[in-house]
Amino acid sequence: MKLWGGRFTKPTNELVDEYTASISFDQKLAQYDIQGSLAHVEMLAKCRIIPVEDAETIKKGLKFVAKKIAAGEAELTEANEDIHMNVEKLLIDEVGAVGGKLHTGRSRNDQVALDMRLYLRDSIVTLVELLSKLQESLMEQANQNLDTILPGYTHLQRAQPVLFAHHMMAYVSMFERDVERLKDSFKRVNRSPLGAGALAGTTFPIDRHFVAEQLNFDGVVENSLDAVSDRDFVVEFLANASLAIMHLSRLSEELVQWSSAEFNFIELDDAFCTGSSMMPQKKNPDVAELVRGKSGRVYGHLIGMLTTLKGLPIAYNKDMQEDKEGMFDTVETLKGALALFAPMISTMEVKKDNMYAAVAEDFSNATDLADYLVNKDLPFREAHAVVGQVVLHCIQEDKYLLDLKLEEFKNFSDLIEEDIYHVLAPQTVVNARDVAGGTAKNRVEEQIRLASSRLEES
Ligand code: ARG
Repeated sequence: MKLWGGRFTKPTNELVDEYTASISFDQKLAQYDIQGSLAHVEMLAKCRIIPVEDAETIKKGLKFVAKKIAAGEAELTEANEDIHMNVEKLLIDEVGAVGGKLHTGRSRNDQVALDMRLYLRDSIVTLVELLSKLQESLMEQANQNLDTILPGYTHLQRAQPVLFAHHMMAYVSMFERDVERLKDSFKRVNRSPLGAGALAGTTFPIDRHFVAEQLNFDGVVENSLDAVSDRDFVVEFLANASLAIMHLSRLSEELVQWSSAEFNFIELDDAFCTGSSMMPQKKNPDVAELVRGKSGRVYGHLIGMLTTLKGLPIAYNKDMQEDKEGMFDTVETLKGALALFAPMISTMEVKKDNMYAAVAEDFSNATDLADYLVNKDLPFREAHAVVGQVVLHCIQEDKYLLDLKLEEFKNFSDLIEEDIYHVLAPQTVVNARDVAGGTAKNRVEEQIRLASSRLEES
C-alpha cells in the first residue's frame, strides 16, 4: 500500500510507477533528506507537536536509515516513488507506526526544496574550492612566465605581443568572477523553505526559524507559495556553472591550439593526454577537448530548467521533479573538469622559445612604429597610413620591420631614427604597455600580487 494510498481503489499501473518515480536519481539527496528530517523532528518536539520520546525514537530510526542507505544496504524502490517516501517507509519499517509522525506539518513539496538547497549549498562550497585551486595553478604559470612573450591575437591574427603571464592572468580574472558569482548566489540558496507545507503553510504551531538555524540557514524563504514553487536558485546555479564552463572551454580551445604542431607553444603532460588506437605517434589533448565538449550539456541543462519552469502556475507541479538530474550532472561535470584542469595547467610545459620565435616573425610591433611617429607629433591617422605602407613594403620584400635598414625606414618617414630598433624589440613593445592592466612586466606583477592577496583573503 502506498503512503498516500487511502483514497485510491486500485494499485497504480506499473508503467506509471516507473514513469513518475524519481528514486533512481534523487537518492543522491538521501543524506540531505535525513539531515532535514532530523531538524524537523527536533522542532516538532520542541514545539510540543509530538512527544519528546517519539522524537527520540524517530531520530534514532533516521540515523539508522542513514547508515543503511550509506552502506548500500537499504532497498530503495520505485513503488515508493522518491527518496522522501523511501526514507519514510524505511523509518516506519524500523521504528513502527510512530515513524509516521515525522511528516507532521510537512509536505514533500517543502521537503524537496529543502534537500535541493542543502545539496547545492555543499556543491557551491566544493566548486569554489576547486576554482580557487585552478586560479592558483594559473598564477603559478604566470609567475614562471613573466619573461615569456608570445603573440597576442585578435581575429586569431597576430596583433600585439603580450606576456604569457598576462594571458594566464586573464583567466585568473575570469575564474575570480565565477567564484564571486557562486558566492553571491549562496546567500539566495541559503534560505530554508521548510514549513511552507504543501503550499499554504501548516496548521501546526511550528517554528520555521528554529529549523532554519539548526540547518545553518541564514533565514527562511518568506512566502510559502514561493518557497515550494520556485527553482530560481537552481537556474542561477546553472547559469553560473555555464559561465564557468564557458571560461574553461575557451581555455581548452587555446590549449588544443597551442599543443598543435602548427602552434607548438605548449606541451601538456603525458599524464593528461591520451593516444590513438591506430596512429602510434598521436598524443591528443582529450581532456581539454572533452571539457570544451561538455560545456554543451551544461548549457543544455540551463535552457532545460528555464523551459521547464516557464509556464508553471504557482505552486508545486510535478514538472519540477525535472530540476534534479540537470543540476546533479552540472555539479559533477564542473567538478570533474576543475579537478583535472588545475594539475593539467600546473604540469603544462611552456615552450618559451617557440613563442618568442613566433613574435619575431610577425608585424605585431607595427602599432609601436605608429605610436613612435605620433610621439614625434604626426597625427595618429597619418602615422597609421605610413606604417601600413612600411608593412606592405616588408611583405613584398619578404621582411619584417626589424629587418629594415634605417635608410629604408627613412623612405617612408624621416622622423624615424636609429632608436627605432630598440622601440620595436619585443621586450620594449611589451613593457611599453605600462598602464593599469597592461601587459608591461611590472603591471603583470602587480596583477599577480593583487589577485593572490585577494585569493588568500577569501
Ligand atoms: N519527487 C518529487 C520531486 O522531486 C518530490 C515532491 C513531490 N510532491 C508531490 N506532491 N508529488 O519533485
